[in-house]
Order: sequence, then structure tokens, then C-alpha cells
Amino acid sequence: MKCGIIGLGKMGEAILKGLLPQVQEGEITLAGYEVSDQRRRELEGRYPLPLASSLQEVLKGTEVILIAVKPQQMDTLLTEMGDLVGGKLLLSIAAGIPSSFIQKRVSSHARIVRVMPNTPALVGEGALAYALGPNTGSNEREIVEKLLSPLGIVIEVAEDLMDAVTALSGSGPAYVFLFLQALSEAGVKVGLPRDLAHTLILQTVKGSLRLLEELKGHPALMMEMVTSPGGTTIAALHAMERAGIRGIIMDGVEAAAQRSKELAKE
Ligand SMILES: NC(=O)c1ccc[n+]([C@@H]2O[C@H](COP(=O)([O-])OP(=O)(O)OC[C@H]3O[C@@H](n4cnc5c(N)ncnc54)[C@H](OP(=O)(O)O)[C@@H]3O)[C@@H](O)[C@H]2O)c1
Repeated sequence: MKCGIIGLGKMGEAILKGLLPQVQEGEITLAGYEVSDQRRRELEGRYPLPLASSLQEVLKGTEVILIAVKPQQMDTLLTEMGDLVGGKLLLSIAAGIPSSFIQKRVSSHARIVRVMPNTPALVGEGALAYALGPNTGSNEREIVEKLLSPLGIVIEVAEDLMDAVTALSGSGPAYVFLFLQALSEAGVKVGLPRDLAHTLILQTVKGSLRLLEELKGHPALMMEMVTSPGGTTIAALHAMERAGIRGIIMDGVEAAAQRSKELAKE
């Protein structure tokens, strides 16, 4: 299968890297197109792949095109692609851009799927959700799952859930890193050297996830395992709950979902 990626920024590169094993095993061929000359030069040195010098070149002969430009760049790009798309399968990872927006700007035969990956795809541990759009069915489902599964878990959702998915798992790595950073700072606040705080908290997060996976427990039950009556953990949880930690997290994710809804209108 001949695939192309348009837009090789942070996420486009993560996906390109994740697809390389399929290229090396001869399952797919992959071409990329990036508009920024500087970025193109950086990538040419890093990957043994042809980078097209024009949009027309990357579209020529490819069956599957993954679009990884910013949401605000979608209108211009799709209009330029127009009828050149024909019946190709388009996978768009742009946050907030509905498949109807894409369909209006390209050939009416285009097969359109929205995908929401996240940055851990770079190490094969991504959470990817996809929604089948116009002109797609079981054949496209099979292609998408086979192509993307080396990047992490791949889950089909209805398109009206994509803003929520974007807010939760698409943006999610940033929340996790914020939490990690805040905990490291907290370690420093209670007197630990920074390096030690960072090492301890990294292993605590890794170990807690592993525990959750192996015991197949619910996070609430796992919290109870750590929280002894009148102990240190309940003192911490009390202070955090009083400050509204859960409400703050929910407000953040809700703001991201709202922002995703706004993006298509800009
Ligand atoms: N980053 C994430 O964690 C994440 C997670 C999930 C989904 N996404 C989605 O992924 C998409 C890309 O995000 P990103 O963070 O990777 O953005 P990015 O780093 O800005 O990458 C986009 C790249 O596409 C290039 N580009 C723009 N127009 C182009 C065109 N017509 N043809 C070819 N290349 C073009 C840009 O060049 P210029 O810089 O010169 O414009 C840039 O290098 C967005 O739609 C975002 O919603 C991102």
C-alpha cells in the first residue's frame, strides 16, 4: 500500500517514525511532504525516506494520505488538494476539523477518516481513536487499524465523540507531564534534591500504572491501598480535595473540548 504524510511537524514525524517498521518490512511505501524548507532538511538527515518536493508529487500514486497540518492550515491545504484527491483514503488528525469540513473541499469520492493520536505514538504507546467518515466502511476500518496499530491502541468511536477524545487523550500527555512536574516541585518543596525528587516520582508513576494493569483494579481501590486511617496520604488527599483538584482537572479537559469545537470555525 502506498501512503503519504502531509505536514511533518511534531505529530507527523511521530507517525512517520511509528510507520517505519512497516516500510522496512515492505508492507507499505511511505512518502512525506513538508512545506517548511528548514524542517524538510532536518528530516532528510534523520530518515531514509523520500520527501516529495510538492503536494502534487506526494499525492501522485498514493492510496492513503495522512494529513498532519495545524487545524488553521486545513482550509488552504484541502482547497489546494481539491480534485487531485480522487477516491484516495484521507486520514486527518487535525483537532476539531469535522469530516464534513474536509468533504466540502475535496473530491466527492474521497474516503475520509478522522484520527486523534497522541505523542506517545512516537514510542508505540499511543492512544489513537478514529471515526469513519464519508465513503468509508469495513474496508477502510481494516486499513486504518492495520496501518495505525503499531503506534499504540486503536479504538473506533463515533465522530461526535472526537472533540472529547481530543481533549482527553489527544492533549492528555501534557496533563500527565504537568502532574509529573508538579510532583517533582512538591518533592523539592518538602526538602528533596531535584534529581532525587524527579527519579522517585517517575518510578512512582511507572510502578503505579503497572500495579493498576497487573491487579486490573479501579484507581479508587488502588488509592485505598495507600491511604491508612489518620495517616499521611489522607492528609494530602484532604488538602488536595479542599483545593478542588478534581474540579480543576475536569475544567481543564472541558476547556480543551470547547476549544476543539471552536477550531473548525476559525
Ligand atoms: N502535537 C500533538 O500532541 C497532537 C496530538 C493530536 C493531534 N494533533 C494534530 O496534529 C496536527 C499537527 O500538529 P503538530 O503539533 O504536529 O503541528 P506542527 O508541529 O505545527 O506541524 C505541522 C507541520 O505541517 C507543515 N505544513 C503546513 N501547511 C502545510 C502544507 N500545505 N503542506 C505540507 N506541510 C504543511 C507545517 O509547516 P509550518 O510550520 O511552516 O507551517 C508544520 O511543519 C494538528 O492538526 C493537531 O491538531 C497534534
